[in-house]
Amino acid sequence: MKNILITGGAGFIGSHVVRRFVRRYPEYTVYNLDALTYAGNLMNLRDVENAPNYRFIKADIRDFDTLDRLFAKHRFDAVIHLAAESHVDRSIENPTAFVHTNVLGTVNLLNAARKYWKDEPENHLFYHISTDEVYGTLGDQGMFTEQTCYDPRSAYSASKASSDHFVRAYGHTYGLPVVVSNCSNNYGPYQFPEKLIPLVIHNIIHRKPLPVYGTGQNVRDWLFVEDHANAIDLIFHQGRRGETYNIGGNNEQRNIDVVEKLCEITDEMLGRTPGESKALIRFVTDRAGHDWRYAIDTSKIQRELGWQPQTGWDEGLRKTVKWYLENQDWLQQVTSGAYREYYDKMYKKRLNE
Ligand code: NAD
Ligand code: DAU
Repeated sequence: MKNILITGGAGFIGSHVVRRFVRRYPEYTVYNLDALTYAGNLMNLRDVENAPNYRFIKADIRDFDTLDRLFAKHRFDAVIHLAAESHVDRSIENPTAFVHTNVLGTVNLLNAARKYWKDEPENHLFYHISTDEVYGTLGDQGMFTEQTCYDPRSAYSASKASSDHFVRAYGHTYGLPVVVSNCSNNYGPYQFPEKLIPLVIHNIIHRKPLPVYGTGQNVRDWLFVEDHANAIDLIFHQGRRGETYNIGGNNEQRNIDVVEKLCEITDEMLGRTPGESKALIRFVTDRAGHDWRYAIDTSKIQRELGWQPQTGWDEGLRKTVKWYLENQDWLQQVTSGAYREYYDKMYKKRLNE
């Protein structure tokens, strides 16, 4: 029996990873540790919450003493670390929160793992989930490889870069068995509607303006979230200790094209007149320090682990829109209360300008 600790399992990507591990590996006990911040939601895991090999622990990675007690009690064999503050726009408003969770929270987990795994480190694994944003921004050419120098440009990416450095430093200094992956933009079911794709779907449903930052020409490389969960599974089981793997969708899209495609698909699924939702698009004040383009070279993970994305862009977006249309109770639950305050703070001025 293996005890696997997954942090941030009630969030977007974490819930897909938890679901995958609970279903595919009945021989593991999967412990989902999550503080249930605004981004965490146990509704994301309703379909596995009663599985015999699943346990939920409400805890905060900023609290070392609690982590210490949990490691002593459950003797985790491995950690897959996803818990983080994950939204760039929030990091512009409140950078310090990103230092506390993403940097100090990661160091707390590393300290607990180091303390409890020191006798036989070879039987353990600390797998840190990170982002392509640590590499900075690209012009119109080029791609991020695992050798690209770190050049974070937002408080979010600076905090993730710092946490990556700590993970690798614990690998070098203390012999902690670590692996890191850096992934591009994910999309799919259960993504909180502060991120571009679910925010736009939510606004289309409610016939609200669709805010596009700047000129809408910035480029992101989009990956369907289940393909990311699949890559995480492969790296967890077959990745080489001490290595870094880049993960991406080989799917670069300009923001304006993403928004227009969402309008087309959603109008079609809702039986609206073609073009109706495109009329809601508004170009608004740009994000401060907005990274221009991300693109990921995935040749290492493809060569070493045989991974490549399985879900095409059109198929993935259609699955995503369909899920949001069929789960409007979920959308309603997560957009009540605090979300409204957030939305007004971030968008009211931009949309009335
Ligand atoms: P998310 O914001 O949807 O979920 C984060 C989860 O972490 C939530 O469940 C939240 O409750 C939990 N959490 C936050 N602070 C915590 C704390 N102090 N203690 C315990 N739990 C806490 O994030 P996501 O989009 O699912 O991203 C997950 C991870 O993947 C993050 O580390 C992020 O940097 C990384 N990542 C995300 C993307 C993407 O496109 N979303 C791409 C690459 C990498
Ligand atoms: O690249 C991986 C990263 O992708 C992850 O590490 C982050 O956790 C995740 O949030 C995501 O970061 P982005 O900033 O790229 O994602 P977001 O969905 O916030 O924005 C995508 C693009 O759309 C970006 O260029 C900004 C733009 N945008 C975003 C919002 C929310 C808009 O034009 N309008 C919006 O309202």
